[in-house]
Amino acid sequence: MARISVTVDGIRYADDVPPRTLLVYYLRDLGKVGTVVGCDTSNCGACTVLMTDPDGRARAVKSCNVLAVQADGREVTTVEGLSTADGGLHPVQRAFHENHALQCGFCTPGMVMTAVDLLADNPNPTEDEVRGGLEGNLCRCTGYQNIVRAVLAAAAERREAEAEAPAIGMPVSEEVPA
Ligand code: FES
Ligand code: FES
Repeated sequence: MARISVTVDGIRYADDVPPRTLLVYYLRDLGKVGTVVGCDTSNCGACTVLMTDPDGRARAVKSCNVLAVQADGREVTTVEGLSTADGGLHPVQRAFHENHALQCGFCTPGMVMTAVDLLADNPNPTEDEVRGGLEGNLCRCTGYQNIVRAVLAAAAERREAEAEAPAIGMPVSEEVPA
């Protein structure tokens, strides 16, 4: 057994695990069954989660391709940890919903997590860049058109929100001296 300490969706867990335990099975044992196992051989991307790298940057990883012991000391975010503080959908989740970017839904958790990482790296991707960024995630329902549309919609929504936000340091209203 190996002792690990991992923060998952904001909660810290300390557990003894067999050294060969894959991260995806550790997460599912924690009850994070939104993270699914599609192939178990790092091909399909259904098990994708975000895990911080040594610099603290959250990166998409295929959790069937990571040992639980490799997550020791890291922060992991699953699709269940994406929702906003008030329980609302993350903008990428909402875009998937609004663009009908799922059919059976099996690939969806991994697609969403990869898309979140992609947009963190490249907030203004082209369609080709979205397709390239998602190439490690397979949709057996072949729903790629709407998935790509959803990612582009999430990027556009974020740009619009940023454009509407007041610049830092700018007064919201100016007081007129008496
Ligand atoms: Fe991990 Fe398919 S289950 S890539
Ligand atoms: Fe069925 Fe993608 S929606 S696998």
